[in-house]
Amino acid sequence: MSVPNSEVSQKLYIETYGCQMNVADSEVVASILKEKGYDITENINEADVILVNTCSIRENAEQRIWGRLDVFKQIKKNKPELTVGVIGCMAERLKEKLLEEEKTVDIVVGPDAYRELPSLLETAETGQRGVNVILSKEETYADISPIRLDKNRISAFVSIMRGCNNMCSYCIVPYVRGAERSRNPESILKEIEDLFNKGYKEVTLIGQNVDSYNWESENENLPALSSRQEGGRQGKSLKFAQLLEKAAKISPKLRIRFSTSHPKDMSDEVLYTMAMYGNICNYIHLPAQSGSTKVLAEMKRGYTREWYMNRIMAIRQILPDSAISTDIMTGFPGETEEDHQETLSLMEFVNYDFSYMFKYSERPKTYAARHLKDDVSEGTKSRRLTEIINLQSQLSERSKKADLGKVFEVLVEGISKKSSEHLFGRNSQNKVVVFPKNDFAIGDYVFIEITECTSATLIGIPVK
Ligand code: SAH
Ligand code: SF4
Ligand code: F3S
Repeated sequence: MSVPNSEVSQKLYIETYGCQMNVADSEVVASILKEKGYDITENINEADVILVNTCSIRENAEQRIWGRLDVFKQIKKNKPELTVGVIGCMAERLKEKLLEEEKTVDIVVGPDAYRELPSLLETAETGQRGVNVILSKEETYADISPIRLDKNRISAFVSIMRGCNNMCSYCIVPYVRGAERSRNPESILKEIEDLFNKGYKEVTLIGQNVDSYNWESENENLPALSSRQEGGRQGKSLKFAQLLEKAAKISPKLRIRFSTSHPKDMSDEVLYTMAMYGNICNYIHLPAQSGSTKVLAEMKRGYTREWYMNRIMAIRQILPDSAISTDIMTGFPGETEEDHQETLSLMEFVNYDFSYMFKYSERPKTYAARHLKDDVSEGTKSRRLTEIINLQSQLSERSKKADLGKVFEVLVEGISKKSSEHLFGRNSQNKVVVFPKNDFAIGDYVFIEITECTSATLIGIPVK
């Protein structure tokens, strides 16, 4: 039997680690390979090809992947024809190491080279290693319609840009994802419309720094740009606030979220756009990293504690109902006890609804790795992280208790893990709400009055 190369019939299993960008990229990869005849499987044991989409943000993220590669090695022992590919950020960072030390790995493909996957897999079939980790200044995969790998079919990520130009001193992202580039707004809006037409009720526009989204059109007459005067702007560029507005206008029944905002770039214009459209969710993830101006400067974040607080006050004023979350990193080189106290006091000031909290992990090649000594001891990092986590638990509890008695519109996402008689969904503020199932279906919008809460969840009853 002859199977033409362009139409292979193999089963592909993709495992995804890291941030939302990787989740979205895996869907692009699935689409590229499905075109070539690969069938996506959720069962690793029936896979002909295993791809692991990897993250390098902290050392423990990479350790997890090495652990997975050991597992794939075992599978491969009983199935020598299995192809294993490492893709994503760690592929970019550790190409040589993956190829040298890991006999398991057949192909290594960086985030900007996914269009080459079919030919690299073909190479692998001949017994050679396939490698491409070339970063691009242009690639946005704009024309590729991602295959959604999520189960609920309600909420999807839509990538609006790639890469990052910020060069925060601790961060590996600019090295593994290359320079920042914005995706053509027409392709973004078309993808969102398609999702809505397929029944999706929520999209999250994603990028490492969505506030610096900027599309420069070469063609004055692009329809997506034709109404750009709406925001009082002239010219050929389209900025994030305008993209957001266009996305919001697709349908009031489609919720729009976005992530991540950068404190140095988040403009009042974005906040006013959010205030204008009920379907743009009242939730902002605004990573602070530290509350100390001195540490922020060492991190090369481009803002001070006061600037950050000013951004928070703008949110509170323009969007009084907005929830705010953050990323906090503790134990950055040179962080003193005083700096740490400033982080805690900033957390109190903002009263975060939610935080992602990390210990600083030195990443090779970064400015911090080259110039700053990782001088906060592991014990001190752990103790400070515990204090940060404990404070956030109190703030999270406070935030949930403040919701008791309120009524929220909740988008139903699924059946509660704890009880088949209950559904769960999220409110505009991104808080999880659990409530009795009644006759509601996944994808419905339901008004829920909050009657109880746990540390992670709001619990309520439907109201008319
Ligand atoms: N672009 C986003 C976040 C990208 S990475 C932003 O700028 O906010 C997600 C989070 O991982 C960061 O906000 C930071 O808190 C954390 N992080 C990044 N590099 C890290 C490192 N070297 N060690 C520990 N945490 C890190
Ligand atoms: Fe990393 Fe900073 Fe870019 Fe975020 S903004 S991805 S932390 S360099
Ligand atoms: Fe990790 Fe790459 Fe995202 S390093 S956090 S998967 S951009």
